Amino acid sequence: MWLNNSSIGRKLVMSVTGLALILFLTFHMAMNLVALFSVEGYNMVCEFLGANWYAVVATMGLAALFVIHIVYAFWLTLQNYKARGNDRYAVTDRPKSVEWSSQNMLVLGVIVLLGIGLHLVHFWSKMMLVELTNGKEFVINGNAISPTDGAALIRYTFSQWYNVVLYLIWIAAIWFHLNHGFWSAFQTIGWNNKVWQSRLQTISLWYTTILCLGFAAVVILFGAGIL
Ligand code: HEM
Repeated sequence: MWLNNSSIGRKLVMSVTGLALILFLTFHMAMNLVALFSVEGYNMVCEFLGANWYAVVATMGLAALFVIHIVYAFWLTLQNYKARGNDRYAVTDRPKSVEWSSQNMLVLGVIVLLGIGLHLVHFWSKMMLVELTNGKEFVINGNAISPTDGAALIRYTFSQWYNVVLYLIWIAAIWFHLNHGFWSAFQTIGWNNKVWQSRLQTISLWYTTILCLGFAAVVILFGAGIL
């Protein structure tokens, strides 16, 4: 199929999956913000999602999006690497027009992926996985906590200073990755005229900054013990 056989087809797959992942992150960040205003409200959302069939189906869809996005990222990078052949090291200066993020998308993506692994261990494995395996609770410092008590888990995770540091580094990597990925995805889809390129770059900057500040606010406010 042309989506797999051509470089533009593969880029299109990366763009569409990337934009879908940004949509997920938008919902996820909005959901997390509830914890800033109401612990009960946040736990109600956690309970509503829990391990109900619709949440499990959404998780499987999300996992598929991540896998496709990552596999195609490595595939495209390998293909670009091969295409450049022996000229690979001929130019060592970075072209001025290409920002830092765009040249480091794979490295940034790997940092984002490592962070997601850690994050799933911190949260998903103690919530949805516990429910799916019929566990009733997870234990923190000897206290049994319900797998739908997301607020308690957030408070516990960010009471450890090194988690605050790791999450903030992770969120910074996400910012760089999305900032380039967002407008570049629209460009691949076909929105690539001169006027729209600079508009999309501005929208991308604002959107990813608000998104990442939303995530960081939860980490910082819970980490500082304010909430
Ligand atoms: C920094 C603040 C964040 C907090 C407090 C937070 C909180 C949570 C919680 C409580 C869950 C478990 C939901 C459940 O199993 O019922 C979860 C799952 C998840 N989070 Fe986060 N999250 C944060 C940031 C992020 C970021 C930045 C990403 C992605 C780059 C992310 C990706 C995910 C994914 C993929 C899942 C699994 C979703 C699923 O089960 O469908 N999270 N998060």
